[in-house]
Amino acid sequence: LAALATGRNGRGGVGPLNIDDVRARARKRSCALPFSYVDSAAEDFATHRANLRAFDEVTLRPDLLTDVRDRDRSITLFGRTLASPVLLAPTGMPGIQHADAEFAGAGAAHAAGTVFTVSMASSHSVTRIAERCPGPLWFQLYPWGNADDFTPYVELAARAGCEALVVTLDTPVGGNREADIRTGFTMPPRLSRANAGEVLRHPVRFGRWIRTLAAGPGIAMGNIAETGVTGGMNAVHQATKFEAKFVPGFSAAELALVRRLWDGPLLVKGITTAEQARRARAAGVDGVIVSNHGGRQLDGLPASLRALPEVAEALDGTGTEILLDGGIRRGTDVLKALALGARAVMIGRPWVWGLAAAGRPGVDTVLRILHTEIERDMALMGVRTLADLGPRHVNVPAAWA
Ligand code: FNR
Repeated sequence: LAALATGRNGRGGVGPLNIDDVRARARKRSCALPFSYVDSAAEDFATHRANLRAFDEVTLRPDLLTDVRDRDRSITLFGRTLASPVLLAPTGMPGIQHADAEFAGAGAAHAAGTVFTVSMASSHSVTRIAERCPGPLWFQLYPWGNADDFTPYVELAARAGCEALVVTLDTPVGGNREADIRTGFTMPPRLSRANAGEVLRHPVRFGRWIRTLAAGPGIAMGNIAETGVTGGMNAVHQATKFEAKFVPGFSAAELALVRRLWDGPLLVKGITTAEQARRARAAGVDGVIVSNHGGRQLDGLPASLRALPEVAEALDGTGTEILLDGGIRRGTDVLKALALGARAVMIGRPWVWGLAAAGRPGVDTVLRILHTEIERDMALMGVRTLADLGPRHVNVPAAWA
């Protein structure tokens, strides 16, 4: 653990240098079931691959001859100053990766001066996370069921002191993640033909994983226990049968109701078009998250970065905050997203890989790597503050016009 935190592997070599190295570390420590759940994406992974590729397609235009001795990577979002433009995205059931789960994620986020977003499908309840990890929390709501299903969750988030509410619109039903079906990803884990080979190949890792599940929240979903309602979600024992349990009835009327229930900043997550952005704005949201759920829902959506310019144009001058997630792995990815109109970005898989690799120090390492890269890249780009970034700092492929 210390090796991961200090960047040394203890054998005279180097520790994880970048986010891909952290992923490799997570892969080595995990067995296939929990690891592939994080890596997984829908159908042919086309959208997931596009998310990553889009960052290579956009290139940078520095302002050299700028004095960059003093650089500031803080941002202001909904009136709060954050030390980082990188927020932690909501990810369900991190308790299957490490017993500390959200305590590690929120602890690391708050130590780094940024926001942790608690998934509705979190392992620990938002109440316990707020008690253990003082600092800015957002709560993410899934659009399932009707008012009776989601109102208790909105109230729970408010009682826990969450600063913003995020409604994930891209998940009326579960995405078709064939990779998870192939690994036999069920909860609780059962021996099946699909995963028996894995158990025989890596008995030690599998044993360690079972101990992880036993030591922490494991497959539990803390918010269900506290609200007493499943919120249209009944996944505790049936992960692979998710869709059968979803109630995909959330429409504009439900969003309007959530708006009335929630006084603070309200964001919608899963926006990929200008039309959706305008509808969200008309519904009274304060922010949108340009996202395709890390390619885990509708395969065939464009890369998040590709969708960002049209969303930014549609919301220009409205005061609506724009965030982006999907494929952020480098400091330069963050700068490209901010140049194209995002105020901040979110990371999903990267923080969960850090968690799976080493718990809290692993998540600390992920944030340290990204922050070091951002600070270096700001100097190389000739920008002193993130607010200076704009479209003039990037070349966008002609085909995007
Ligand atoms: C997710 N994501 C997600 N989103 C959400 O709104 N609620 C959730 O509970 C989850 N759960 C979840 C679990 C896991 C393991 C992953 C990898 C992702 C999507 C997440 O918030 C985010 O949109 C993507 O992960 C962003 O893409 P990257 O950073 O993973 O490339």
